[in-house]
Amino acid sequence: MGVASGLRRHIEPCPLFFDRADGAYFFDADGHRLLDYTLGWGPLILGNNHPAINAAIERQLTRGYAYGAQHWGEIELAERMVRVLPGVERVVFSNTGTEAVQVALRLARAYTQRTKIIKFEGHYHGWLNNVLVSYRLKPGDPCGPLPACGGQPPSEFAETLVLPWNDLPAVDETFRQFPGQIAAVLTEPILANGGSCLPDDGYLRGLVETCRTHGAVSIFDEVITGFRIALGGAREFFGVGPDLSVYGKALAAGFTLSAVGGKAALFEVLQDGRTIHAGTYNGNPISLAAARATIDALAAPGVFDELEAHGSAVRAALEAEASRRGVPLLTTGCGSVFSAHFGLLRAPRNYRETLRADMQRYGRFRLAMLRRGVHLLPDGRWYVGAAHGEAELAAVRAAIGPALAEVAA
Ligand SMILES: Cc1ncc(COP(=O)(O)O)c(C=O)c1O
Repeated sequence: MGVASGLRRHIEPCPLFFDRADGAYFFDADGHRLLDYTLGWGPLILGNNHPAINAAIERQLTRGYAYGAQHWGEIELAERMVRVLPGVERVVFSNTGTEAVQVALRLARAYTQRTKIIKFEGHYHGWLNNVLVSYRLKPGDPCGPLPACGGQPPSEFAETLVLPWNDLPAVDETFRQFPGQIAAVLTEPILANGGSCLPDDGYLRGLVETCRTHGAVSIFDEVITGFRIALGGAREFFGVGPDLSVYGKALAAGFTLSAVGGKAALFEVLQDGRTIHAGTYNGNPISLAAARATIDALAAPGVFDELEAHGSAVRAALEAEASRRGVPLLTTGCGSVFSAHFGLLRAPRNYRETLRADMQRYGRFRLAMLRRGVHLLPDGRWYVGAAHGEAELAAVRAAIGPALAEVAA
């Protein structure tokens, strides 16, 4: 099949092979230089070949690849995370977002001694059976835990309840239906995997408060939003503090690292041995060196303002050029991660509302952009990073108009 992740399998015209990458550019095996707005599906917040990250890794390379034991690098990263993530008092490290989501659920279940979890339609929390449900739906599908692929035994998602997003009464009602049984509510704070829908005003705060009222743990899956929409992720951006947050992707800017952070009380179940979190590569010193350099680079003044400005300028160009050609197109999300939707007349509030978008036209647009040297994800999502500067903005603007003209008919 030739792809390392099933989600890369059906990419048109064919899954591209890359030879190398530098800054905001990927170079494919045929020698094309592509301006990249995929950022490797999100992690490359600083682009490729970043001098500070390279230097940090080179330093670590001579000091050891893996210890399988505690080291200063863990403490130095944990201290940085606690400093920049509002309300985060403790952190533990894992490797992928998929794993760290499971760590958060394990902590929540051990802490509450309950088993059920709530997740929402269209939200992606990794590829394991208990959360890979109701991820990609068809319009008539019922609301309930539907497996996303073969090989998912129903027993493995029997404790997962699925609800529509941005609907607080549905959450409250479910807590009343299953009193004392729900351990956690798991949500992406911006529905980046399902059309970059934004939470309604007060929704995230309401979710956290509803969890508190019913003795459950609130978990923000910040694998995309963390270290991207603000240095403090959704906690800072929305001013809301859940019990736990899950980090990955941009945390180590392209190196394999994930983490769970949150209230100290939740981590006591690990400290006193009520539960276990394990992994040969947990706290890998190379990835941790990359993460420390990433946070230091992201903490420089103005970084997030520039990300926001660049993304807003690209969104404005997309909407203006589309409107000039009579093509219905709108964008949702924020500057550093947003989605473009053909055919929608108002911003979708949840995953079901994104299903009305014309993805075939988006597919044609994506290919038209690729022919003009701009590399985009197939699902309408755009990632903006610090390597996107003025030259890249000019290049992407120059491609957008003609690409839209091609798909206007
Ligand atoms: C919100 C969210 N959670 C979890 C994951 C899983 O992370 P990983 O692919 O590192 O396992 C992803 C991956 O795209 C994600 O977007």
